[in-house]
Amino acid sequence: MGRFTVILAAAASLGGLASAGPGAAEWASRSIYQVMIDRFARSDGSSEECTDIDGYCGGTWTGLINKLDYIQGMGFTAVQISPVVENIREDTGYGEAYHGYWSNNMYGINENFGTAGDLSHLSQALHDRDMYLMVDVVINNMAQAIDGSMPDQTIDYSQLQPFNDERYYHEYCNITDYDNDEIAQQCWLGVTNVALPDLDTESQEVTDMIGTWITGLVANYSIDGLRIDAAKHVNNEYLPPFVEAAGVFTFGEIFSGVVDNVCKYQRDNLISGLPNFPVYFPLIQAFTAGDMEGLSEMISDVNDGCTDTSVLGTFAENHDLPRFASLVPDLALAKNAIAFTILADGIPTMYQGQEQHMPGNYSPYNRAPLWSGSESGTPYDTSAPLYNLTATLNALRNHAISIDSRYVSNHSIELFLDPSTMATRKGPDGVQIVAVFSNQGERGGEYELSVGPSAYEIGTEVIEVFSCTRSNANEAGNVTALMGAGEPKAFFPTAQMEGSGLCGYASNAEAATNTSSGAEPSATNGAAIAADVRWGTALLGVMGALAFWLL
Ligand SMILES: *[C@@H]1O[C@H](CO)[C@@H](O)[C@H](O)[C@H]1NC(C)=O
Ligand SMILES: *[C@@H]1O[C@H](CO)[C@@H](O)[C@H](O)[C@H]1NC(C)=O
Ligand SMILES: *[C@@H]1O[C@H](CO)[C@@H](O)[C@H](O)[C@H]1NC(C)=O
Ligand SMILES: *[C@@H]1O[C@H](CO)[C@@H](O)[C@H](O)[C@H]1NC(C)=O
Ligand SMILES: *[C@@H]1O[C@H](CO)[C@@H](O)[C@H](O)[C@H]1NC(C)=O
Ligand SMILES: *[C@@H]1O[C@H](CO)[C@@H](O)[C@H](O)[C@H]1NC(C)=O
Repeated sequence: MGRFTVILAAAASLGGLASAGPGAAEWASRSIYQVMIDRFARSDGSSEECTDIDGYCGGTWTGLINKLDYIQGMGFTAVQISPVVENIREDTGYGEAYHGYWSNNMYGINENFGTAGDLSHLSQALHDRDMYLMVDVVINNMAQAIDGSMPDQTIDYSQLQPFNDERYYHEYCNITDYDNDEIAQQCWLGVTNVALPDLDTESQEVTDMIGTWITGLVANYSIDGLRIDAAKHVNNEYLPPFVEAAGVFTFGEIFSGVVDNVCKYQRDNLISGLPNFPVYFPLIQAFTAGDMEGLSEMISDVNDGCTDTSVLGTFAENHDLPRFASLVPDLALAKNAIAFTILADGIPTMYQGQEQHMPGNYSPYNRAPLWSGSESGTPYDTSAPLYNLTATLNALRNHAISIDSRYVSNHSIELFLDPSTMATRKGPDGVQIVAVFSNQGERGGEYELSVGPSAYEIGTEVIEVFSCTRSNANEAGNVTALMGAGEPKAFFPTAQMEGSGLCGYASNAEAATNTSSGAEPSATNGAAIAADVRWGTALLGVMGALAFWLL
């Protein structure tokens, strides 16, 4: 925190433009919903099918503004959006730039998504709801459509802004080994159909220009946080000045399952926020392939390797990865993956459509429009089971944080582990959430699982928030989870439920507007409750898009 304050002061004194946006501590308490603008909602809310999934489908910033109730209804307190700047217009061998990763003018905006005014309105609309805006940015390369492959093609550098000369770029080379940092950082991510001229990020001129640009972008649209696409593909020294010029919390996409490859960015003070790719891979293994122990081991390795797990983004899906439902259709497993995402250490990050159990195993099928994606056939179905589950989990986490902000930095500890079950406790005494994750699936049997010891003080009454059943911690401080059908469980002290908006207890916002407020729980509308939640957590995912397009 101290360091962040210093960085802000430095940024402010440099340009005077850098906004004093929320820092890592604020973001750590948030919960992030990731939106791919073209695929989230059209301005008129229409749900006609998109006929060309490699092209623009019509989603806009205004469409997102109109659907913020849908996101806030799940308890999210931040939204991450796909890149906003002007992209190449060609329909290339890889389709159109609907995803936003093919910038050709960093000072223009992508008019397919709306006007600069619309983007400002989106920022304002989020802030009016006390939600944060995170914007995805590409700072490794620019883009130009080509008819074939490099090096047989000519790049017209004058078409690229503001880097309009060959001197701003690395000389052409193809990435032949993604695990070799030198090659991955010096060579071009795109070499066929769409060339991605690689910025000479070692040059001071490029570093200064990118800094000026991001200071302006953050200030012009009151952006609260950034995701740096393909952060693994730029040299380390390029990152700290960029983050400083941005003046806001930043997630850097380091697409690697190796703890050290990712955690070294925190240890070396290059960037504090990182999507948790090391945990992502065993998380998927735990809930699709039965390897709960692997997840447990990785959690412990990341605790040892990283300096601050509270700003790692926990996720089970993003726009570059196979959707969970494409790996295994079982709904109970999908519920556990989401429960882990939201209740583990770190900033929960969910990708649009995960709450509708959307399928799609690779690009562009993992980016199908949300409006055509619900299993029920009703677009934006707020009664979908995973929508309800997500709303419950975010409400619980937001509530725990609102009572005691130390919840965020308190480390989750493992209370129980067997090949099909993991139970954890997170949070200081009194606001601890005890969670039980299962990978038995919908056909899992019914049994009682005692979880402890010292999950709670002896005798404490707790509520299991999915079933709203009450029980008391036993003489060892254990709680008993009534397992069945592979469902996850989450417990919270009954004495602290007021204000949660769960199990009949009013939300804080509702209680505040009730002049005759009493202590009795009242029946409440889940969506309205979650929509009023004031506290939350946060963030997500990164890179693969470029690499995947090349494949
Ligand atoms: C670039 O390298 C990849 C291996 O990373 C290879 O598959 C591809 O054919 C190469 N493309 C060109 C144009 O050299
Ligand atoms: C931000 O706004 C200023 C003033 O209109 C403009 O000069 C600058 O180019 C803008 N920066 C970006 C990145 O849009
Ligand atoms: C989390 O809270 C528990 C109970 O108050 C405490 O014993 C533990 O030291 C805390 N852990 C951290 C990392 O703050
Ligand atoms: C408490 O739970 C643990 C497993 O998490 C179990 O080993 C132990 O027997 C339980 N103790 C009691 C008294 O329930
Ligand atoms: C408002 O207060 C009344 C009277 O104390 C109580 O019965 C009711 O449950 C409260 N409603 C909410 C939403 O808190
Ligand atoms: C989940 O659905 C149940 C049953 O419809 C409802 O009572 C509850 O309020 C919903 N929970 C949330 C958090 O929306």
